[in-house]
Amino acid sequence: MSEYHIIGGRRLSGQLSIYGGKNAVLPILAATVLNRGISVIHNCPMISDTLVAINILKAIGAEVKTDGNSITVDSSKVDNLTIPDNFVREMRSSIIFLGGMLGRFGKVRIAYPGGCELGTRPIDLHLSGLRQLGAEVTEGGELVSAEAKRLIGARIHLNFPSVGATENLMLAAVLAKGQTIISNAAKEPEIIDLQKFLRAMGAKVSGAGTDIITIDGVSIQDLHEAEHKTMPDRIVAGTYLCAAAVTGGELLLDNIIPEHLHPITSKLTETGCDIKYDGSSVYLKAPEKLNPIERLRTHPHPGFPTDAQPQFMALLAHAQGMSIVEEKLFEARNKHIPELIRMGADIVLLEDGTTSIIRGVKKLKGSNVVCKDLRGGAALIIAGLAAEGNTIVKNSSFVERGYVRIEEDLRKIGAGILHVK
Ligand code: UD1
Repeated sequence: MSEYHIIGGRRLSGQLSIYGGKNAVLPILAATVLNRGISVIHNCPMISDTLVAINILKAIGAEVKTDGNSITVDSSKVDNLTIPDNFVREMRSSIIFLGGMLGRFGKVRIAYPGGCELGTRPIDLHLSGLRQLGAEVTEGGELVSAEAKRLIGARIHLNFPSVGATENLMLAAVLAKGQTIISNAAKEPEIIDLQKFLRAMGAKVSGAGTDIITIDGVSIQDLHEAEHKTMPDRIVAGTYLCAAAVTGGELLLDNIIPEHLHPITSKLTETGCDIKYDGSSVYLKAPEKLNPIERLRTHPHPGFPTDAQPQFMALLAHAQGMSIVEEKLFEARNKHIPELIRMGADIVLLEDGTTSIIRGVKKLKGSNVVCKDLRGGAALIIAGLAAEGNTIVKNSSFVERGYVRIEEDLRKIGAGILHVK
């Protein structure tokens, strides 16, 4: 079991460049199955979730080659219409393969993804959308199968702007007959990136980034080779900014897209950080003492991202006063709280399970803590960087799902952190 060893109390300062986004590259890799031609995706983060997506592609018969951060996929020979269940267990977002496979082959079987570290995470919106496109979806025990000779475009209103459901339905609709309109669609930047890739391969998609996405179905002959550069990871950027802020440091991040970061940096400004954008970079200088935040509530984009909530909570654990954080997306996304408390944080999670009251303390104490999920793990690293003494964060594989050698980046800006495998 690998772990991070952290020497706390060092002020972070320097410059880092942000790599491609995990949540952008996963649906894009799933989208490559629509295309009988070659897809070349650049700026891919080589993290364990990306490797799972590559292994799924190989398992269904695609040819996949990697060269540095570029992935080339030839899906012309895909012939296995069952996504192996070990991958679905390893990565819940494997469900994103459902829409594209169904669209191209008219048939797909995938293990039921079930719950994960973040709670039950139903897929009802994905399945009901596919049914509205004419698919016959069977949920039998551990397996979901979907079938349709050819999907037929439809108007689909999502009861909640689910990111995964929006992406799955976009992929399913690319080769459907006629027009599909998804309303109350998710507006996350990753959806815009997916649209860019789909357009590059010849799909007719518009509206991504707004709550109405329109897809005019094309036939497979209209799709062709495509090349795409994955957008930068806004959550990695937010994590690094929180790490610099909590150590009273300063940081310049390159290769970011300012609009993607505004929901996070506007809250960092409230804590007293000085934030300056310049083209595709952002600079943060922390104040001597961080202000608390009256209320931070997670919300679909352009609200504050749930994927940055734990990291921000680690920061607020050091603020001068009381903050309130409300987690509105995932009921189980608070597993970092007991670990932060173990480090001396003063946090009370109310009975509703979503509202936390955080009273900032002067210094957390270095401790042995256990990582229970990806972003919670990043939060514990941030807490360890600011704590007095040494911290060991166990179960580091969760963090490796979403960060490319986080210890190397943090060391570049002065952190004392080792990854012990
Ligand atoms: C994606 C991100 C994840 C992020 C989340 C919210 C990827 C690979 N993962 O996850 O990092 O935290 O968006 O920004 O991009 N829901 C339903 N029924 C459904 C689908 C979702 O009730 O069919 C609920 C979920 O339980 C959750 C909420 O909708 O409470 C948001 O989930 P969703 O936007 O779908 O997140 P994911 O796509 O799974």
